[in-house]
Amino acid sequence: MRTHVVDHPLVAHKLTALRDENTDSPTFRSLTDELVALLAYEATRDVRVAPHAIVTPVAPTTGVKLASPKPLVVPILRAGLGMLEGMMRLLPTAEVGFLGMMRNEETLEASTYAERLPEDLSGRQCYVLDPMLATGGTLAAAIKFLTDRGADDITAICLLAAPEGCARLEDELSGIDIPVTVVTAAMDEKLNEKGYIVPGLGDAGDRLYG
Ligand code: PRP
Repeated sequence: MRTHVVDHPLVAHKLTALRDENTDSPTFRSLTDELVALLAYEATRDVRVAPHAIVTPVAPTTGVKLASPKPLVVPILRAGLGMLEGMMRLLPTAEVGFLGMMRNEETLEASTYAERLPEDLSGRQCYVLDPMLATGGTLAAAIKFLTDRGADDITAICLLAAPEGCARLEDELSGIDIPVTVVTAAMDEKLNEKGYIVPGLGDAGDRLYG
C-alpha cells in the first residue's frame, strides 16, 4: 500500500478552514468540494489513458483519452457523498457505485448497510471516497469488497488519515496483490479513546449533513 500525503499550500489552507469548529455546514460542504478537486488531481495521476488521434485546426496529432473500461468512483455513504461532486468534475465520464457503511461508535467495527456496485469489476480502476481514515475498518472492508469483485487498482481519497488506520489497512491488505494507494490531505497525530482523529475535524458526516 502506498500513502500519499498531498503537500500543497492550498490544500493546507482549505483543510485548516475545514478543521475549524466555527466553520458552518454550507461552508464545510463547499470547502470539501474544493479540497477534493485538489486531491483528485493528485489521485488520478495514474489514471489509465489510451492514445487518441484527433485533428486540430492546424494538423493531425495524437493525444490521449480515458481508457476502457471506465474508472469506477465509489463514495462511501454517508460522508463520502460530500466528495462525489468534486471528484466527478475531474472524471465526468466515470461510472459511480455506492457503498453504505457505518461504524459502530462503541465497538468501532464497520458494517455494510447498502451496496450498489457493478457485479464484475475485472480490470477496473476504482476511486474510493471517504473523508476519514480513522481506525481503518471502513476502508479495509470497502477495499476487500472491491477486490472480491475483481478490481485491479484502487485509490482511496481521504481528507484526513490517522497513523493507526494506515497501519491496520497495511496489515489487513497484506494478502491483496493489487496496487492500493491512499491519497490524503494530512496524516494527523493519533486517534483518541473514542476512535476520533486528533486533531481531526470532528465527525465529517455530521458536519456535512447535520
Ligand atoms: C465515518 C467516516 C468513515 C468512518 C471512518 O463514517 O466517514 O466512513 O467513520 O472510521 P474508521 O476508519 O474507524 O472505520 P460513519 O460511520 O460515522 O458514517 P457516516 O459517514 O454515515 O457519518
